[in-house]
Amino acid sequence: MLREMKRREFVKASLATGAVLLAGDMVKGGINLAYGAVKIPEAEKATVTVITDNYFNGLLQPYKIAKRYGIKPGTDVYKMNLHAEHGLSYHIETVLNGNPHSFLFDYGVDFQGVTRNMELLNIDFGTVEALGLSHGHFDHWGTFLQVLKWKKEEFRKGVPLYIGEEGFVERFAQMPGGVLSIGQLKREDVERLGFVKTVEIKDPTPIVPGAYLTGSIERVTEYEKGSPYLLIERGGKLVPDNFIGEYAVVLNLKGKGLIVLAGCAHPGIINIVKHAQKMTGIDKVHAVMGGFHLTGAKPELIQRTVADIKAINPDYIVPTHCTGYDAITVFEREMPGQFILNSAGTRYMFTV
Ligand SMILES: [Fe+2]
Ligand SMILES: [Fe+2]
Repeated sequence: MLREMKRREFVKASLATGAVLLAGDMVKGGINLAYGAVKIPEAEKATVTVITDNYFNGLLQPYKIAKRYGIKPGTDVYKMNLHAEHGLSYHIETVLNGNPHSFLFDYGVDFQGVTRNMELLNIDFGTVEALGLSHGHFDHWGTFLQVLKWKKEEFRKGVPLYIGEEGFVERFAQMPGGVLSIGQLKREDVERLGFVKTVEIKDPTPIVPGAYLTGSIERVTEYEKGSPYLLIERGGKLVPDNFIGEYAVVLNLKGKGLIVLAGCAHPGIINIVKHAQKMTGIDKVHAVMGGFHLTGAKPELIQRTVADIKAINPDYIVPTHCTGYDAITVFEREMPGQFILNSAGTRYMFTV
């Protein structure tokens, strides 16, 4: 009720004053931002290519908006297989007023595998306008420095890397046998590349026309509490990581609604989608994609997450990466008309 009132007040105020923000404006306020504070320009087309993921099946057939990477007749099957790993990487393209804009979001782990996929998927580095990173875990930034060095001559000089709070801080996992480092992207290594401009953000920020990074995610569900085993170093001590700097991507597809892409969704995929709805003032969600971090989750957490996604009622649900087999099968069973099984190399063709 309160939310609906806020929405109505916001719409009324916006209509009266035209006071909506356009891409290029930085929205202050982070997790306390107002309902509808961000107006994402509508894309008339968007293509999301999953460069790598935890799963690959070369025999999958095209399905709805999913264009599959297929091994074609006449090609060398030993060189055409895509690589899958515990990692995630996206190439995202928006089209506005006939003009394409593209960026990379996350970079997987294995340099040989990820770069082979990039070549087989014909990723055009020369047109990449920006780089984004969901959060500081190795399975999302692992190849970042190597890929940038590998394609140094093709990337635009000064290409920005948008990175969240604590994006450069070392992360750890508490394992049964002790504490394991799960990576640290170092600021000085990025600076040493010499052609990447680091942009640290906290708030919703446009990454290319038609796409925003969320900034810090407001926590609204009481059941998405995160893992006590994922740690971050603060003040010389290891403490549970609250992923204040994990961000997702939000696109606004003309007439269809929001497309939400998560990395690992440590803040909770429902928190992320609700945050995207709040920041844009758009309730209609066209697609939710990404790692939902439900591997090994208790059945109750999986059931509540799936129930809330069902209530949000996206046209497509594409759980990938760390969502895990158990949760993926529940999404498939509970949302058969909306579920799409991801496979590395799949291109999601969003059209109006
Ligand atoms: Fe991950
Ligand atoms: Fe993660």
